[in-house]
Amino acid sequence: MMRMKTNFVLECPEQEVAIEVRDNEPSAEAVQEEILDTALQQVVETAEKEMVERVQAEEKEARGTKRKMEDLEEGEMEYKVTVATGTLEYSGTNNYVYVTLVGENGESERTLLDKPGLDLCRGAVDDYIVRSSAPLGRVILVRLEKQKYFLEDNWFCNYVKVTPPGGGNPQTFPCYCWLVGDIKIEVRDSTAKRLSDEILPQELAHRKAQLKERQKTYRWQVWAPGIPKCIDAKSEADLPQDARFANEKRCDFERSLQFALLELSLKKLVIWFGRSWEDLDDFKQIFWKLRSPIAEYVMEHWKEDWFFGHLFLNGSNPRMIHRCSQLPSNFPVSGDMVQAFLSPNTTLNKELKAGNIYLVDYAVVDGIPENVIRGKKQYIAAPLCLLYEHPDNGLIPIAIQLEQNPSKDTPIFLPNDPPLAWLLAKMWVRHAEFQVFQVLSHLLRTHLIAEVFCVATLRHLPSVHPINKLLTPHLKYTLEINCRARTQLISQDGIFKRVVSTGGEGLLVLSQKGCKVLNYRSLQPRHDFIDRGVTKLNKYFYREHTLMLWDTIEKFVSSIVTLYYTSDIEVVQDSELQAWIKDVVEEGFVNVPQFGLPNELKNKQELITVLSVVIFTTTAQHAATNNGQFDFCSWVPNTPCTMRQPPPTDKDSVTMELIMNTLPDISQSCVQMAITWHLGRVQPDAIPLAQYEEQYFTEPAAQKIIDDFRQDLKDIEEEILQQNKGLEPPYLYLCPSRIENSITI
Ligand SMILES: [Fe+2]
Repeated sequence: MMRMKTNFVLECPEQEVAIEVRDNEPSAEAVQEEILDTALQQVVETAEKEMVERVQAEEKEARGTKRKMEDLEEGEMEYKVTVATGTLEYSGTNNYVYVTLVGENGESERTLLDKPGLDLCRGAVDDYIVRSSAPLGRVILVRLEKQKYFLEDNWFCNYVKVTPPGGGNPQTFPCYCWLVGDIKIEVRDSTAKRLSDEILPQELAHRKAQLKERQKTYRWQVWAPGIPKCIDAKSEADLPQDARFANEKRCDFERSLQFALLELSLKKLVIWFGRSWEDLDDFKQIFWKLRSPIAEYVMEHWKEDWFFGHLFLNGSNPRMIHRCSQLPSNFPVSGDMVQAFLSPNTTLNKELKAGNIYLVDYAVVDGIPENVIRGKKQYIAAPLCLLYEHPDNGLIPIAIQLEQNPSKDTPIFLPNDPPLAWLLAKMWVRHAEFQVFQVLSHLLRTHLIAEVFCVATLRHLPSVHPINKLLTPHLKYTLEINCRARTQLISQDGIFKRVVSTGGEGLLVLSQKGCKVLNYRSLQPRHDFIDRGVTKLNKYFYREHTLMLWDTIEKFVSSIVTLYYTSDIEVVQDSELQAWIKDVVEEGFVNVPQFGLPNELKNKQELITVLSVVIFTTTAQHAATNNGQFDFCSWVPNTPCTMRQPPPTDKDSVTMELIMNTLPDISQSCVQMAITWHLGRVQPDAIPLAQYEEQYFTEPAAQKIIDDFRQDLKDIEEEILQQNKGLEPPYLYLCPSRIENSITI
């Protein structure tokens, strides 16, 4: 007879209990009872053991407290140790935490951090006494050890402060990291130090060990060929706890897209795949709740030519426009065609020479593979749009061609064409704008660039390095949001694939094309505006605010760099810094051949520029690009995410029916609105630019520089608010209070 075999497995806190049962042995009920008894016994034993340890620890602590009341033994020293626990959810712990002070002349007693009542709980700042049998000299390291008590309970330590016997100046040890599991870490004092500043072997050893560990943890990965490298993580779940969102942010992020679909009452509409709206006004059906004042303004004015021009200056993608001094050969606009739109007594040639003609050219989207959504091919066009800065009417479009190669099927659309034909031509421009804006301006030029610097900083600059202290707050949460983008937004089954014309292969090809022309110089605003010939464009608020912010950021960075590097040679000889830039260039941007950032830093100014680029990109540039998404894209006809019909080849064939069949269907419109709300809304936990919550720098000189930076930003805020008084529509994306300190969304 075959012997039947059943395995019961019951999870206990400590271990699994597995019992094999055979058919000629006791009944299943009896076995289950035995399993439960065994498990229960183990739980009780574990609890008892923990209790004994706890009581022993408490007794030890009580003894310590008693000793405190007595006279110190000869030569014995008492240090006051202040421990600050993080303020975010789950920061506190009920696990055992021990502290040991490591000084120049020896180590203190290993001391359990425990005192009557609750301590080490969320937001707590607790004081303890730590004894040493002899003076420690300067405290070099604080060693923190966490051990499990009954259940694992992670702890987020903000900092430890050590006050020497007799109440001298306290030393601060910034930690700002999670202690996960049974773990021992050592934290350096807050004084920023370059490698060459280190004297003691313990300090050098700590520095090297930290980098070795970090290089094991944070590794490069090629997510796709031809684009910047990224963190080696299949999803955000692979990231170390220190790189993860805080619990509050994670919950908010995960709920908000669902919230958008529910609250906007889109849920019942989002299932209408392939069904067109009947009229432009029908888009209002998904536009009745959670509006923003600018989104409403867009809905009112999106058809107007001046507003179409305005979006190239102060919309979400304000870097596409170039001065045009000579018409491109593939855009045969004649003077006669546009004469009616110029001011009297001038010609196209005169205006080209005078610098009043501008071009927006979407050549980069030409030939991008088109997405197929639910079996339906989507369409992409690569338009050229000529604009004129009219002395009275501002920047207005005067000619649009929807493809790069002129032919009889690519008419040049003009403002005096049949209104629906001109409107649809403008929509095709705005559709190309959606693709370039999301994939190149937003994802590539802010998120992916920031990630390269983030990975290299973690790998090559120890926490005590001044440039690590400078950059870390501007790189917070970027790894997780980028991982989420790769798994949820631009993956093979992500949101782009489901609703956007460049979804799937298209966005990868577009990114690769974008990378071929991506260059470091264009990330420096002053060069960028000069190179695009747009220094004189009027009402280009993005440019005006950007330059104010760039100058302020550069001044701040320059002051910090000068505080820690007195000469160019110190930059050249900082081997950690040189390894950092080498990693950025030779690993991070290895697939961006034209990037143009040298792989070594030859002087202070080169360091100042690259750090300013990092901080400007992760703060102001991301805000200018990201934060207007809902404003400009929620009214779907203004910036459609996909087009379901090919571009018109004949001006007279354009009807409202063709427009509605071309624009996103009901389902796609709902997702576009929900996702732009999800990504573009103000983040509830946003930390504004320069409001450093974590105090990495403690030197008075560095703090003064940070205070000055904040004051400069306050002045900019006032100037922008002043400028915006009575401005319709306002441009507030670069108000410092609205700029996040890092890319977190
Ligand atoms: Fe973003």
